[in-house]
Amino acid sequence: MYAIAFLDIHKERYPSLVSRFAENFVSDINIGLIVIDQSFHIVEISSLACKLLNVSKNEVVNKSIDEVFFDVPDEHRIVQRTLLNGITVKNQAIAWSSNQQKFDLLVDSNIIRDETGHIVGAYVIFKDVTNLRSLEQQVRQSDRLATIGQIAAGTAHEIRNPLTSIKGFLQILKTVLVKNQLNNEIEYTDIMLSEIERINKLVNEILLLSKPKDVIYQALDINTVLKQLYPIIQNEGLLHGIEVNYDLTESLPLVIADSELLKQVFLNVSKNGIEAMSEGGILNISTKIDEENKRVEIAIHDNGPGIPNYIADKIFEPFFTTKPTGTGLGLSICQKIIHDLGGSIRVSTKGFGTTFQISLPFH
Ligand SMILES: Nc1ncnc2c1ncn2[C@@H]1O[C@H](COP(=O)(O)OP(=O)(O)O)[C@@H](O)[C@H]1O
Ligand SMILES: [Mg+2]
Repeated sequence: MYAIAFLDIHKERYPSLVSRFAENFVSDINIGLIVIDQSFHIVEISSLACKLLNVSKNEVVNKSIDEVFFDVPDEHRIVQRTLLNGITVKNQAIAWSSNQQKFDLLVDSNIIRDETGHIVGAYVIFKDVTNLRSLEQQVRQSDRLATIGQIAAGTAHEIRNPLTSIKGFLQILKTVLVKNQLNNEIEYTDIMLSEIERINKLVNEILLLSKPKDVIYQALDINTVLKQLYPIIQNEGLLHGIEVNYDLTESLPLVIADSELLKQVFLNVSKNGIEAMSEGGILNISTKIDEENKRVEIAIHDNGPGIPNYIADKIFEPFFTTKPTGTGLGLSICQKIIHDLGGSIRVSTKGFGTTFQISLPFH
């Protein structure tokens, strides 16, 4: 109100300044703005609105909203026809995509009246809150991981110690059963031992989520870390009839990290890739330098079936798994380790398989 009164008073004295301000405002402001007249035609549109809607200003000014949004169903339009009847919105969240990019928008709209109170048009203002939304999701995710970490630290050891003695005594029991050739009972103990192994695996993975005490951050050559891991990954591949290929870029800049934790990440992601493929698949591990963003990029590619769209944003959640004996912790551990280093881990899945792209900053 105050600003408008100010503009009114000064309009008389500085008419060109006011109109220039309005012009600059519309082109500079980091807000989507669309002004329409009472016949539902666009009168003014801000640069950001053009960008988000993927149109150019010249092509839409003086055009009717129906014409501009002809391919968008009515209820999904940013400018609603009911607006001119006085149905306004505040802070309405709208999901919008253009140019294959997804945006989260927060929309306000209202009508414009003349001095006599007649509706002469309306405006819609929207803000791109996509970053905010993904930030919120990240915070929620790391909150959950922190909680799991706390529970883990408190209970994992308490589970592991009794398990160790149960396992030890079972093994003794089994030798007695073997001696007496009690084949049925031997089979039961085998099942019990493999179930204990499963609990152990789960507890070990949970323990990794609570930060280990002896993390050693040092300058590392990622290629060296990967080379040390080669025999393990290759062996894992052999077990599944999978070929493992390395394609490393020489002389990588050094990255500050803990080598054991990084191995954990590369191994987890590689294992997932191997497990996703059937016999005869190829796992490709490559490194390269992104000079511009000062990052070392590690890509782990498999030619398995890919990750269906509807689960793609769940795979990093703790305990999400599609495997009968999976723990669903592998990728959430990887994500935590990589985020702690200021890096990122992304997945892209196309017709020809899945690529996990890990990017780590260097200085
Ligand atoms: N390379 C991949 N190809 C296909 N699906 C994958 C791949 N990597 C991960 N996934 C999916 O992500 C899920 C979670 O992985 P992860 O956190 O490692 O847990 P787990 O391996 O115990 O299931 C897997 O169950 C699988 O559905
Ligand atoms: Mg896994």
